[in-house]
Amino acid sequence: MKRVDDFRLKFGKKEIVPIIVGGMGVDISTAELALETARLGGIGHISDAMVNDVSDRRFDTSFVKDKTRQYKHNILNADKSTVKFDLDILAEATRNHVGSTMEAKKGDGLIFVNCMEKLTMNGPRETLQVRMASAMDAGIDGITLSAGLHLGSFALIAEHPRFRDVKLGIIVSSVRALQLFLRKNARLNRLPDYVIVEGPLAGGHLGFGMDWAEYDLASIIAEVIKYVKDEKLDIPVIAAGGIFTGSDAVSFLETGAAAVQVATRFTVTNECGLPTAVKQDYFTANENDIIVNTISPTGYPMRMLKGSPAIGDGIRPNCESYGYLLDGNGNCAYITAYNRELALHPDGKNISVQDKTCLCTQMRNFKLWTCGHYTYRLKDTTRRNADGTYQTLSAEHIFKDYQFSVDHQIALPTA
Ligand SMILES: Cc1cc2nc3c(=O)[nH]c(=O)nc-3n(C[C@H](O)[C@H](O)[C@H](O)COP(=O)(O)O)c2cc1C
Repeated sequence: MKRVDDFRLKFGKKEIVPIIVGGMGVDISTAELALETARLGGIGHISDAMVNDVSDRRFDTSFVKDKTRQYKHNILNADKSTVKFDLDILAEATRNHVGSTMEAKKGDGLIFVNCMEKLTMNGPRETLQVRMASAMDAGIDGITLSAGLHLGSFALIAEHPRFRDVKLGIIVSSVRALQLFLRKNARLNRLPDYVIVEGPLAGGHLGFGMDWAEYDLASIIAEVIKYVKDEKLDIPVIAAGGIFTGSDAVSFLETGAAAVQVATRFTVTNECGLPTAVKQDYFTANENDIIVNTISPTGYPMRMLKGSPAIGDGIRPNCESYGYLLDGNGNCAYITAYNRELALHPDGKNISVQDKTCLCTQMRNFKLWTCGHYTYRLKDTTRRNADGTYQTLSAEHIFKDYQFSVDHQIALPTA
């Protein structure tokens, strides 16, 4: 019976344990989690979502406070078009986060950064360009493009000296999305180094509509692998979404996937950035506590715990401090929804916005508990403490469980 450890992901001469821990913004996939994964020979992700804030927390910078001060005069203004990110600050924050992580890296694995296109930051092209270029400047091993089709993203960094040596990959949820991406980038003569196929059971935003349940990862990945083979493209195809045991992973590796990307099981690790109390909410969740809804202003459905405090909250938009979802013209679907409610309650009190959420603020404050479909199985992956709480796990324990387990067994931590 095969184990994940019988396989390797090959990048040129480098051989990687074919386990990738996916990016989880905002700083849920911390540097510590990514570093552990790399130390164990896999690929860990940090995320550059809300990187100015992450830099403030990790390095005591004051980028968010400074931006709030700069745009204070605009807080009560519904028009957010003038609230822009300073590109030098964005570059510095990215270099802080990426650079210090890369300096601490040990072991044979790699560290990638997850880069979401939907973080349009009131200047989609220039901010994305700065995020990617600064991550490369700071020595990142690879960039995983996500949450968007990224049709122009390679072109934004084509002149960067590391464009052909850094690993570049993209997350897709259909063969069509991959075809579009390849067609758009053909003239750059640079293929992605890997493609992650994310199915409908993943955490975070989904690359499907609300009919997500009609799709399944095995079928989509089979289509992508066939396409890549038919086109004679040498691109490793990686499976993601709902891979909960080592045996789940092996079933994808045996049918042609080059690696798996996993995340949900690592949300309850000591290294994960979620607050301790929230990890317990993940453990105690039952299947009917996990919902997919459309409250994310990105327009993508998102999976989350239905007890997330963000749902129905009516907080005033915080774009002067954050503004990561402003579309380039100062718009965000939450602002529209909030202003509609404000018009109904002009005193500003008791505002509840049901159809959208202020994603930046809520993710920043860990009040939106996005999670994978199988979160309800996390309670079966650990032991309970004497006080009834669940024991959080080390990333090493889970990584090795994926790497070595057979027969769908899940190793519990030592008592
Ligand atoms: C808490 C959480 C946050 C996530 N955030 C992101 C994100 O910011 N960007 C992204 O591309 N994917 C995100 N994902 C998706 C994961 O990177 C990964 O591809 C997917 O969840 C794998 O499926 P699994 O969780 O069933 O193992 C997130 C997943 C979880 C569980």
